[in-house]
Amino acid sequence: MTTPTPPRRLRDLHPLARFGLICVVLTLLGGATGAGLQLYFQLHNRDEKPERFTIDDVKAQYHGIRSPSPLLESLESGHPADVGGELPDNERQALLDWLKGDRISRNYDNLDLGDMAPSEIMTARCVDCHNRQAKGEHAAAKMPLEYWDDVDPLSVSREINPVPIEVLAASTHTHALGLSALTLVLCWLALLTSWRRWLVALIVGFTGLGLMMDIGSWWLTREYVGFAWAVVAGGGLYNLGVGLLGLLVILDLLAPAGKKRADS
Ligand code: HEC
Repeated sequence: MTTPTPPRRLRDLHPLARFGLICVVLTLLGGATGAGLQLYFQLHNRDEKPERFTIDDVKAQYHGIRSPSPLLESLESGHPADVGGELPDNERQALLDWLKGDRISRNYDNLDLGDMAPSEIMTARCVDCHNRQAKGEHAAAKMPLEYWDDVDPLSVSREINPVPIEVLAASTHTHALGLSALTLVLCWLALLTSWRRWLVALIVGFTGLGLMMDIGSWWLTREYVGFAWAVVAGGGLYNLGVGLLGLLVILDLLAPAGKKRADS
């Protein structure tokens, strides 16, 4: 039987061609790992909490996030009345005005504000419970409000805008075209292996789905923040798929060419 050119199966290729393909696929997998790392470095600080890479980073990147200051939120929810603390309405209003204003650090202990200075109000109304030594039922020693350094991080509202639409369009352009072309070639190689059809088909199926889901969800997340999870799920599926396809191709290329199946 003559071998068609190019052969219909990877294992019929000349050893040098198989060697070359192994090198190419290894490089491709290295590139995919590099892309993943780059994504991590680029995104993990998007929510301005650099410690970890979380779903908030993805939301911040593609949708933008708003997280109001914890102080503002607790005052608006009626705290400290819920724990038996006292805060007259005019003082609550003074704190709310201060937190919603844009001179938070300057007005914190502004002498001109007299008794209505936030530092004065908090010393009188909050610090009994919110201090490092506080003990008892309603103690909040873990969240002291004694010094500006305590108050500062709790006072700012964060607002993070999503990537500008031009940047998203440019990123879609390069990723959608580049990754789909590359994935197509990898899928093709995998389809030329001698692995079981259903196995290759399954992996090709979810790899393609993952790619479309990931990049498509960048755009959907802009409108509907819930799609941030689809970005992550799609990206995960896609990367898993590329890794597995690469592995199948390399293993197939390593298999001795002489070991033909009975049906060939
Ligand atoms: C009677 C004690 C008491 C007083 C007075 C009090 N707090 Fe609290 N505060 C607590 C306790 C206890 C918690 C934590 C328990 C909880 O989840 O409510 C808390 C929680 C908080 C939180 C965190 C809420 C969150 O979402 O995690 C903030 C912010 C806060 N207090 C601000 C204030 C401010 C500002 C004042 C003064 C205007 C104040 N507290 C007065 C006892 C107090």
